[in-house]
Amino acid sequence: MTQLTQLLEQLRAIVGAGNVLTDGNLSAYEQDWRKREHGKSLAVVRPASTPEVAAVVKTCAAAGVSIVPQGGNTGMVVGSTPDASGTQVVLSLQRMNQVRALDGANLTVTVDAGCVLQAIQETCETAGFLFPLSMASEGSCTIGGNLGTNAGGTQVVRYGNTRELCLGLEVVTAQGEIWNGLSGLRKDNTGYDLRHLMIGSEGTLGVITGAIMKLYPLPATQLTAFVAVPSLDAAVQLLGLAHQHLSAGLTGFEVMGRFALSLVTKHFPQLRVPFADNATAPYCVVLENSDQESEAHARICFERLLEMAMEQGCVLDAVVAESITQARALWHIRESIPLAQAQEGLNIKHDISIAVSRIPEFVRLTDAQLQQAYPGARLVNYGHLGDGNLHYNVQAPAGVDAEAFLRDDEVGVNTIVYDMVDQFNGSISAEHGVGSLKREKLEQHKSPVALGMMRAIKQALDPDNRMNPGRVLSMQ
Ligand code: FAD
Ligand code: MLT
Ligand code: ZN
Repeated sequence: MTQLTQLLEQLRAIVGAGNVLTDGNLSAYEQDWRKREHGKSLAVVRPASTPEVAAVVKTCAAAGVSIVPQGGNTGMVVGSTPDASGTQVVLSLQRMNQVRALDGANLTVTVDAGCVLQAIQETCETAGFLFPLSMASEGSCTIGGNLGTNAGGTQVVRYGNTRELCLGLEVVTAQGEIWNGLSGLRKDNTGYDLRHLMIGSEGTLGVITGAIMKLYPLPATQLTAFVAVPSLDAAVQLLGLAHQHLSAGLTGFEVMGRFALSLVTKHFPQLRVPFADNATAPYCVVLENSDQESEAHARICFERLLEMAMEQGCVLDAVVAESITQARALWHIRESIPLAQAQEGLNIKHDISIAVSRIPEFVRLTDAQLQQAYPGARLVNYGHLGDGNLHYNVQAPAGVDAEAFLRDDEVGVNTIVYDMVDQFNGSISAEHGVGSLKREKLEQHKSPVALGMMRAIKQALDPDNRMNPGRVLSMQ
């Protein structure tokens, strides 16, 4: 029996023959969401429990085979798909999808890592609680992937990133041991916080198998407004007013450039985009006010805010949703931008963060440099302005083949954008992570001291470099 046949037999014995996939169309596991890379796995293995994950990791380690943990495979940086070698096992957590417990008094929910985000939100809502993590991929992404990437999303301005929502983890280490850190404590200063080491490590330090997450009371009401603003400076001014007037009620603040919205209109003509004809509004903003008191109170606060903003000239026009259906429709416009953009063709994606106050200046300077170097390049600028996080993406000029643009100009475009990010003391990955797509960029933009500490941690926890090798850091 060859070593490979023996390994596959051992894996089948652990998870069942039907859960070791080697044949047929495995694109759903081997190709990334953005279609940047199509890898080849040795096998896709789908365990159903934490002991099964531990046994798979131990077996692969003994065979010298590396593992790529995978949740919903919606990641943006080519982190959850295998490389092209055909030697890596994709470890899919999708069958581990149970909500284990909900503790209303402790305001926590304990979940398997493969739970789909939307399923967690719905279970918690049915029980009368809010699990606030939210993003357009929530119908497919898993909490394990959210933790693996420390995902952000659309509620960070109030509730923080996934990291801030996590109280404990269960992890299978690179050696196949199980660490149970599902304490659910809000205070625990007993040494290094291993949970925070694992969160955002993109599967390079271990496999997250379970998590205990924070819950909040459901708000009495959530109001959504869609407003047209005369400039990005005005959007930042509006954000300041929203913090002042809504305080903790401000739960969403997303900005969308005119070209980003025009892609939504083009690819999803059934969606009605407010102010699509308002040529004086280069940006629109979606803002959300969650109120613990009543809808009437929420409306009064919103009206005061919008009146003040109009007086100060930072809002040109506004619609406030009259119903939940209308609110969903307004959010749907914002959430459709990544899909519209994907339909328009391959693009150069950036996920950057800058101090909120400096974002307008950053965009002015970077837009100008890009237009000078690549006349006609189309800037798809949108994102989580409330968190200082822009998806400052670049699409080929109209009529230019997208693949050719990426092949010839991606390096140059990235150099302009990331050098400017450095000048503004920002980050080249605000919420999507590093994966393999940005690994080399990380080497160029992170300090050698920080990289040295990161390598030391990786070396200590995964000395044989079997956990998602080639992602985040190069160990060569
Ligand atoms: P995957 O893509 O499967 O994996 C992502 C990374 O996590 C990989 O490195 C993988 O190895 C690792 N990983 C997965 N599961 C585990 C585990 N159990 N243990 C250890 N490591 C693991 N991201 C945002 O931050 N904010 C957004 O607003 C947002 N919006 C999106 C909208 C759309 C339409 C799409 C397609 C994506 C969006 N994303 C967003 C990106 C993506 O959805 C998130 O990064 C999400 O957290 C990935 O979850 P996943 O389960 O799909 O993980
Ligand atoms: C978003 O905010 O829509 C996401 O992070 C996805 C993307 O940038 O495409
Ligand atoms: Zn985003």
